[in-house]
Amino acid sequence: MSLRFDGKVAIVTGAGGGLGKTYALELAKRGAKVVVNDLGGDRHGTSSSTSMADKVVQEIKSAGGQAVANYDSVEFGDKIVKTAIDNFGRIDIVINNAGILRDVSFVKMTDLDWDLIFKVHVKGAYSVTKAAWPYMRDQKYGRIVVTSSNAGVHGNFGQTNYAAAKSALIGFANALAQEGAKYNILANTLVPTAGSRLTETVMPQNLVDALKPDYVTPLVTYLVHESFPESGKVFEAGAGWYGTLQYYKSKGKVIPNATADDIAKNWNVLTDMNGAEYIGTMQEQTGRLLAVLEETPVTTTTTSTGGSTFPTN
Ligand code: NAI
Repeated sequence: MSLRFDGKVAIVTGAGGGLGKTYALELAKRGAKVVVNDLGGDRHGTSSSTSMADKVVQEIKSAGGQAVANYDSVEFGDKIVKTAIDNFGRIDIVINNAGILRDVSFVKMTDLDWDLIFKVHVKGAYSVTKAAWPYMRDQKYGRIVVTSSNAGVHGNFGQTNYAAAKSALIGFANALAQEGAKYNILANTLVPTAGSRLTETVMPQNLVDALKPDYVTPLVTYLVHESFPESGKVFEAGAGWYGTLQYYKSKGKVIPNATADDIAKNWNVLTDMNGAEYIGTMQEQTGRLLAVLEETPVTTTTTSTGGSTFPTN
């Protein structure tokens, strides 16, 4: 077992079952000290109990590993990080995994359906990461994973709340990656697919049985290892397939002083993905636009907007 985590402390949120449990077990097996966080509620984000986290901690300890349970909701990240610090003295790895579903068509969605999803997925990841961040900065080491979803990438019927929250997490991790770079804090996004109590409502049973969470575990384990070299990327796992997901932009076309009619007329050219280019960062995209401005005979007037100047036409 060459990827070891001796001396490292990991928080896995929502580790009482499903995917999170497999991450906690695997990291502990490889020498990490693990905070097994789980609120122990149902899949809709109501109720709570201590038994889910306790069982996983017991399993880790029986196998000779080190772990401690935490039962706080991920909204209270400071308490979860405090559990790591009080018990193990540091925090190196945060796997933001806890999640719930409140699937309902948009027309029937209530504010509660929307707010609870954002509270657990987005506020939760923010809160735990925010509390761990100062420790990671000080020690110049951190590995952060957020859990998105194909629903967040592609959208999914009945999941406007969940899709929006899962999409938000990609932006969150990508921005963290930039702020963490000089402190050796890496942040990446996972897009998993696995049978679990969360997906048993939307997948047929044979698929739930076949898509084992354990297929996702090796990828996550590598993402949070000290030898992992990338940050601000999206990685995907399911059914034994592993890969990455990246943004490519069409070559498009510069149309000086374009009208809506020009856009309509050129639509096929603008959206032709032949020869599309990979855009890795915001800076690369801004550079592309600046190059266009330099080369294009657009009539520009410059207005001041709060300190920065943007050309307008
Ligand atoms: P799961 O329901 O088995 O596990 C989620 C865990 O999070 C549960 O044990 C639950 O008690 C815990 N939890 C819920 N709210 C919490 C809170 N406020 N604080 C602390 N813990 C809380 O589901 P699964 O499938 O293992 O999901 C794990 C993550 O992966 C979720 O974020 C989910 O959205 C995401 N995901 C899963 C996919 C799949 O195919 N299973 C697909 C895409 C994303």
